[in-house]
Amino acid sequence: MSTILITGASGGLAQEMVKLLPNDQLILLGRNKEKLSKLYGNHPNVELIEIDITDDSALENLVADLYLRYGKIDVLINNAGYGIFEDFDRISVQDIHQMFEVNTFALMNLSRRLAARMKERGKGHIINIVSMAGLIATAKSSLYSATKFAAIGFSNSLRLELMSYGVYVTTVNPGPIRTSFFNQADPDGTYLKSVDRFLLEPDEVARKIVKTIGKNKRELNLPVLLNLAHKFYTLFPKLTDKLAGGIFNYK
Ligand SMILES: NC(=O)c1ccc[n+]([C@@H]2O[C@H](COP(=O)([O-])OP(=O)(O)OC[C@H]3O[C@@H](n4cnc5c(N)ncnc54)[C@H](OP(=O)(O)O)[C@@H]3O)[C@@H](O)[C@H]2O)c1
Repeated sequence: MSTILITGASGGLAQEMVKLLPNDQLILLGRNKEKLSKLYGNHPNVELIEIDITDDSALENLVADLYLRYGKIDVLINNAGYGIFEDFDRISVQDIHQMFEVNTFALMNLSRRLAARMKERGKGHIINIVSMAGLIATAKSSLYSATKFAAIGFSNSLRLELMSYGVYVTTVNPGPIRTSFFNQADPDGTYLKSVDRFLLEPDEVARKIVKTIGKNKRELNLPVLLNLAHKFYTLFPKLTDKLAGGIFNYK
């Protein structure tokens, strides 16, 4: 039985991952315990924790307490995150700070605290749910993309530092997934409507993520078409900018 910690546990993707992990000890973190209890109250091996993941001292205490009680954490899935798809000049300084706190700094802080323990043990897996927006920047996602590019940069370096200690770091970079993410990212539904035919289903993404657990997989980029677009973007950035700003501008 593996001990798996998941942040943003009440989210759409997390719910599907939990369904696929019935035999593991799950530690599920969220902002609202009542919400977590409603979702997971019947799960056999689950601990539900209400916490503000942007409070690093709370994370420090949590990790110390979990290691006292469980002795190990095999897998960390940094899943909490949100987006705002908005013109750059409509984003406030508060938005910038808050989104970096959740999408980037909390992911970094929890990763470095658990990575230190995993490194000591010579075993562990950190799975960072990032985004295709961390590989390809598009209009109206300047802030979201910045938080996710930073998360990928951090993860790529962490992977190298942990390589010789038996600890794996995987980044998961999905395109749009059908979850409540869009309630906040795209309240009027314009973007969602234009990408509807490309939307990934959360159960399908969760299945692919869960399959990587315990495997030394560098990155999981979904779907195939966007992974190809990402390769194209790397090779031909100017041309991709033209396409992304023109016919492929869905926001
Ligand atoms: N849906 C997509 O199109 C898509 C595409 C690529 C990547 N992603 C990434 O996938 C991850 C999971 O997203 P999802 O699609 O499952 O969306 P979701 O249903 O909105 O779930 C995201 C979860 O993150 C946590 N969260 C959101 N805002 C937060 C805040 N301000 N402070 C702390 N926690 C917060 C919440 O968990 P609690 O309420 O339990 O705290 C929320 O339920 C995110 O990192 C997202 O960026 C999503």
